[in-house]
Amino acid sequence: MTPILARTRLGLAAARAAMPSPVVLVPTMGALHDGHRSPLALARELAGEHGSVLVTIFVNPLQFGPAEDFDRYPRPLEADLEVCRQQGVSVVFAPDPVQMYPAFPAMPQVTVSPGPLGRLYEGASRPGFFDGVLTVVLKLCQLTAPDIAVFGGKDAQQLVLIRQMVADLDLGVQIAAAPLHRDADGLAASSRNSYLSADERASALALSGALAAARGAAADGADAGGVLAAARAVLDKAASGSPPLRLDYLVLADTDTLAEVGAGHRGDALLLVAAWSGSTRLIDNAPLTIRAADLEVIR
Ligand code: PAF
Repeated sequence: MTPILARTRLGLAAARAAMPSPVVLVPTMGALHDGHRSPLALARELAGEHGSVLVTIFVNPLQFGPAEDFDRYPRPLEADLEVCRQQGVSVVFAPDPVQMYPAFPAMPQVTVSPGPLGRLYEGASRPGFFDGVLTVVLKLCQLTAPDIAVFGGKDAQQLVLIRQMVADLDLGVQIAAAPLHRDADGLAASSRNSYLSADERASALALSGALAAARGAAADGADAGGVLAAARAVLDKAASGSPPLRLDYLVLADTDTLAEVGAGHRGDALLLVAAWSGSTRLIDNAPLTIRAADLEVIR
């Protein structure tokens, strides 16, 4: 199926009116890669035989800081349309910034505040990032009126915040999460991987390597401190490599709330990591279960 391409709000409204329900939305910034195939496939599955998938492709200026890569971000629309065609997408909405923000380059005066979690981790390193993400996701939901919206699992904090926004603002959209996709070498798929030189990519593999080491330590019975130490050892080694990996954060967090968990934590957790390889900032995460042996001696 060749998707209908809508470049304007009016075009979208016309295409949307003809879409059979359920309508499943996949918001993206384009530069679609293997990591997008899992949300697109999940969307197709959730839409079922009779429903339809709507993909948005919009590099959202509101979520980029002044020193970030908004201008440089890849925009290969033709290749993206081909991926959408292969994945059974009915409609692609690819607006320019003025369609989304009529006063562009001025940004909207009213935006969504992400609350306390929005100031941690990604939000601490990228001030305003989640205000920008939540604002555009809210606008895209208003414009496309989906039954379900699918997001990738790599952006774990984004996913938790979107679920929170949907609950707090009564958006009435079901949110589904697609599993994170790793390339064959273990690197989490990301549009920004295209910025990496071969050496930078080799150094970036410490992110997935650290998560694998942590999962291994947890499986061997390490406690939360041991799990973090296993991940940190891999990241420390990469920090003195060439080119060096620069760690931003490594956090063991509650799976649902992403609140940092303490040294005594037992049970499920999510390990989150962010680092720069060269000038490219990368994130990754992995679930793990801490079943550290109880130190109490049972007599
Ligand atoms: O994850 C992304 O690609 C973006 O943050 C999103 C959700 C499409 C909003 O611009």
